Amino acid sequence: MTQSRDRRDGPNAEGFHLPQIARVVRAEDLTWQDRLIEIALPQGRELGHRPGQFVQVSALGYGEAPISVSSGPENKESFDLCVRRIGNVTTALHALQPGDPVGIRGPFGNGFPMDHLVGRDCLVVAGGIGLAPLRSVIHSILADRDRYGRLIVLHGARRMEDILFADEIAAWQRDPRNEVLLTVDEPTTEWSGHVGVITTLFPNIEVDPANLVVVAMVGPPVMYRFVILELRRLGVGNDQMFMSLERHMKCGVGKCGHCQIDGRCVCVDGPVFSGSEIMAMHEAI
Ligand SMILES: Cc1cc2nc3c(=O)[nH]c(=O)nc-3n(C[C@H](O)[C@H](O)[C@H](O)COP(=O)(O)OP(=O)(O)OC[C@H]3O[C@@H](n4cnc5c(N)ncnc54)[C@H](O)[C@@H]3O)c2cc1C
Ligand code: FES
Repeated sequence: MTQSRDRRDGPNAEGFHLPQIARVVRAEDLTWQDRLIEIALPQGRELGHRPGQFVQVSALGYGEAPISVSSGPENKESFDLCVRRIGNVTTALHALQPGDPVGIRGPFGNGFPMDHLVGRDCLVVAGGIGLAPLRSVIHSILADRDRYGRLIVLHGARRMEDILFADEIAAWQRDPRNEVLLTVDEPTTEWSGHVGVITTLFPNIEVDPANLVVVAMVGPPVMYRFVILELRRLGVGNDQMFMSLERHMKCGVGKCGHCQIDGRCVCVDGPVFSGSEIMAMHEAI
């Protein structure tokens, strides 16, 4: 059900094994731990990604990390990454300034089945940094809004100050064709919204399961179990849900075996899997 394994025939076919030296166009903090980095490939080349695909990003002199593309494919001159600072490479990426060089390989992976969303309602379930790849899906829908039905976004963050893309979320909420619900696990006195993990938002939505496609990325594997349970309760079938899984990666092209789950490589067979595929992979969640 998910799309073809990779894009070795795409506009960046030559960038699969050797990084292209790209440039940072814009870099700004989104939260205390997340930074948005906009990147342009050399000679105005297009990345040619699908929502849900990722690139291998090198911070020169430090190393490489897989990072999801966070913008939609409609912007052909540049693309966004949203990087959470957790270790050596991501800390080096946070230090990048406009004009700095950065290595890019990819795009890699299959991506979300956008064709399957056309004419249907879309439920986006984004836990924490999971909003980064799913923002690419949302941008795609908003860029061609009439091709899609309802857009329902559920986003959960640990605290209010961890909410990603807060200004954009406010703009999505202003459009009456979208329903965007937020929750935090640990409320402060400034937070007057919903409190609880992301699954506690499900009772607040009404969906027509026959016309719905769900795209989700929700953090630690155990959270997927709870999200799948809630989706089943809504009547959503396994082939209507698509989830992006995260595993440690090195090569990104199916050679090193670092990212395997039950013999499948998340870097080429995923990172997006349908509910049916996830059910058949015992180590997935
Ligand atoms: C397909 C894919 C897409 C991703 N998209 C994004 C994204 O859009 N934004 C973003 O900020 N991060 C994303 N990540 C995670 C990112 O790749 C890691 O945070 C990064 O590789 C860490 O590198 P580091 O050198 O900074 O930290 P390291 O020093 O390598 O690691 C620091 C700590 O984080 C743990 N860790 C490292 N990588 C992972 C991982 N993949 N899963 C779980 N724990 C890990 C390590 O075990 C260690 O405890 C993605 C990962 C994958 C596989
Ligand atoms: S990262 Fe090497 S096989 Fe997937």
